[in-house]
Amino acid sequence: MQRTQVAIIGAGPAGLLLGALLHKAGIANTILELHSGEQVLARVRAGILERGSVELLDEAGVGQRMHAQGLVHQGIQLSFGGQRQRIDLQGLTGQSVLVYGQNELCRDLMDARKAAGLTTHYEARHVSLHGLGEPRAVVRYQHLGQDHELACDYIAGCDGFHGVSRAGLPASAYHCYERGYPFGWLGVLADTAPPADELVYAQHERGFALCSMRSRTRVRCYIQCSLSDRLEAWSDARFWSELKSRLDPVTAAALEPAPSLEKSIAPLRSYVTEPLRFGRLFLAGDAGHLVPPTGAKGLNLAASDVRYLARALTEYYRDRSEAGLARYSEQALRRVWRAERFSWSLTQLLHNFPDHNGFDQRIQQADLDYLMSSRAAQTVLAENYVGLPLND
Ligand code: FAD
Ligand code: PHB
Repeated sequence: MQRTQVAIIGAGPAGLLLGALLHKAGIANTILELHSGEQVLARVRAGILERGSVELLDEAGVGQRMHAQGLVHQGIQLSFGGQRQRIDLQGLTGQSVLVYGQNELCRDLMDARKAAGLTTHYEARHVSLHGLGEPRAVVRYQHLGQDHELACDYIAGCDGFHGVSRAGLPASAYHCYERGYPFGWLGVLADTAPPADELVYAQHERGFALCSMRSRTRVRCYIQCSLSDRLEAWSDARFWSELKSRLDPVTAAALEPAPSLEKSIAPLRSYVTEPLRFGRLFLAGDAGHLVPPTGAKGLNLAASDVRYLARALTEYYRDRSEAGLARYSEQALRRVWRAERFSWSLTQLLHNFPDHNGFDQRIQQADLDYLMSSRAAQTVLAENYVGLPLND
């Protein structure tokens, strides 16, 4: 039987970042990942990093390329009623955000992990967790057709929303709080110049739209779509035309359509598991909670969970104190719920809800009107968008 101190399930941003921070603290860890490294890197996901996440990546020693290639954004643009208006993140909060793709960040973490000679088993199948209430936990899995066992002190479930860590628990062990939304996001990645220097979030009667970017020559754009929409029905031409129809004329005119490099549909969901600890298992990132992407919070929450967990495990191995581990769930959930609130409210503000009546629509317009006329309201949005402080 193999042995490690912490077994990490999943090589997404949560698992890779936790592995890097534990390694820095001298804690042995092994990562088991269902897919190949190439498959993990091929997934197009998040793009916005809060300052706290940037600092954590620096602490993990993988910030070099992020600082060289990431784009600092000091504001965001809201497009509605045929106009574009700016929210001055920097002016309102003194902080900015960094545009840097999640797959680039994962690549940096994977490269550093490889250079340090740390163990990651990609294509690990049939992972199952055992002994969560025992003095030692064991992870069983198959790799290259062989059965393996990995004994460990603790397990970090960083295997995303569809992973086995949460799914393997008895339903009576946790409570989930959930809100579904009657729409998804259709996203396109393409090599063309962003239509503005900053992200443009658009509210329109045809539905929400977002023009984000990965660089000055690559955009990531989204439009709200129906849950029954199929990718095949969305040619590139139809996507760009629909996107432009939801933008103000200035932004629409500046957007040059280009062939899609990737196209995918993601449903929107708010979801929280409580607690995030089950004996020797700790859930972190999407394995424990989901937010709709409107507030750009999912990856940042994965980073803050990992920060709390890495500190608690370091305290345990350094001082033999379990105090941090005992506090992890409550500490992480407090930040999770604040991000849930923000992501939910921004989703309400900017999307077209098919079941909304005239009253609901007028309230949404009044909300936008109030936001654009009140510095206090803009400060609330800005301080949530750049990231609320980490509670220690
Ligand atoms: P994941 O990235 O899901 O990683 C989990 C890993 O576990 C995967 O590699 C998976 O293959 C592996 N795994 C799964 N099952 C198993 C198993 N049985 N055994 C072993 N391994 C397994 N967040 C932001 O902060 N900012 C944004 O701008 C943003 N935009 C987004 C846009 C879209 C369209 C979407 C869908 C999400 C967005 N997010 C954003 C959310 C963000 O991408 C996620 O919150 C983030 O990926 C969570 O990281 P994670 O490591 O917890 O989970
Ligand atoms: C992205 O770039 O993918 C992105 C940016 C901001 C969001 C969601 C997604 O709110």
